[in-house]
Amino acid sequence: MEKISIIGAGTMGCDIAQVFALKGFVVIVRDITDEIIAAAKAKLKKALARQVEKGKLEQSLMDAALSRITFTTDLNLVADSDLVIEAIIENVKIKTDLYKTLDSICKPETIFATNTSSLSIAELSGAINRKDKFIGMHFFNPVPVMKLIEVIRSLFTSDKTFKTIYDLSVFIGKEPVEVKDGPGFIVNKVLIPMINEAICVLHDGVASKEDIDKAMQLGANHPMGPLALSDLVGNDVVLHIMNRLHEETGDPKYRPCLLLKNMVRGGLLGRKTGKGFYEYK
Ligand code: CAA
Ligand code: NAD
Repeated sequence: MEKISIIGAGTMGCDIAQVFALKGFVVIVRDITDEIIAAAKAKLKKALARQVEKGKLEQSLMDAALSRITFTTDLNLVADSDLVIEAIIENVKIKTDLYKTLDSICKPETIFATNTSSLSIAELSGAINRKDKFIGMHFFNPVPVMKLIEVIRSLFTSDKTFKTIYDLSVFIGKEPVEVKDGPGFIVNKVLIPMINEAICVLHDGVASKEDIDKAMQLGANHPMGPLALSDLVGNDVVLHIMNRLHEETGDPKYRPCLLLKNMVRGGLLGRKTGKGFYEYK
């Protein structure tokens, strides 16, 4: 693998691009507007500069990584990629429309990986011809720090595609686990309902947001509290996952908290919008 394209330059896409560029890959990052692309470029540069300031990265390696990344709105630039990693909005229709276009423009060998948090890998690959080359490659936020990648195969994913993505995950310094296609896979099936419960505790007036987070940090040894984590992940992403778990299982225990729904409707998405449970500069 030499050329890796990331579609979606949001919270996850930008960080995924950083990891691959630092490992020496040629990287294309594609989003839909020039403004988003400019913001992503600035964010990535700032993240690398911070590592240089801390003495964790040499300036020359930062410069080399940046020179390997192309930021673009032009989807055609991804056509000759060895791997396309999709990290766009968690919506089946928008994702499947994208794969249909990619299927028609990419070379036949290109593998498609989705970073979906909860959607069915089989359903997402439903409209394309290369179902054997479609796989889930689920990174965790913040990508440069979190070691895990859930590698999710659908009924149609070939052993060759699975091995390629599993080995690639190891090559970039991550720890992959093999997961079958199922809502929320492993981590989100367990973690996101816990975050939703914390939001319910806040909604019920049981404790303040600060004390809920403090309690889970000090009482359960979590590195950050669940409300701060929801802001980090994106409250819209948390809601998408809860809705998906609820729809797929029909189990009322996965019902999203009303406060979470109202916050998302009001644009309080967390760090990416500057305001969620907390405020961010
Ligand atoms: N990029 C690069 N490095 C980063 C970073 C980023 N975005 N964020 C933090 N770091 C680094 C810091 O530079 C620091 O490195 P050094 O110790 O070498 O200086 C280290 O991580 C620790 O950071 P901080 O000291 O700033 O803060 P912290 O100790 O509180 O750690 C954290 C921050 C890593 C985010 C930690 O709080 C944590 O692990 N939180 C939980 C994260 C988590 O659960 N993620 C999974 C979310 S679910 C998901 O992603 C799946 C999904 O589908 C929704
Ligand atoms: P985000 O909202 O931060 O970014 C999504 C980006 O995709 C936006 O910049 C948007 O403009 C772009 N986009 C939308 N449609 C597009 C298209 N057709 N072509 C190109 N770009 C398009 O979202 P995010 O948090 O980065 O999540 C992306 C994916 O990763 C989702 O499937 C999400 O479930 C998953 N995920 C998120 C997290 C997390 O912690 N946020 C963790 C793991 C997986």
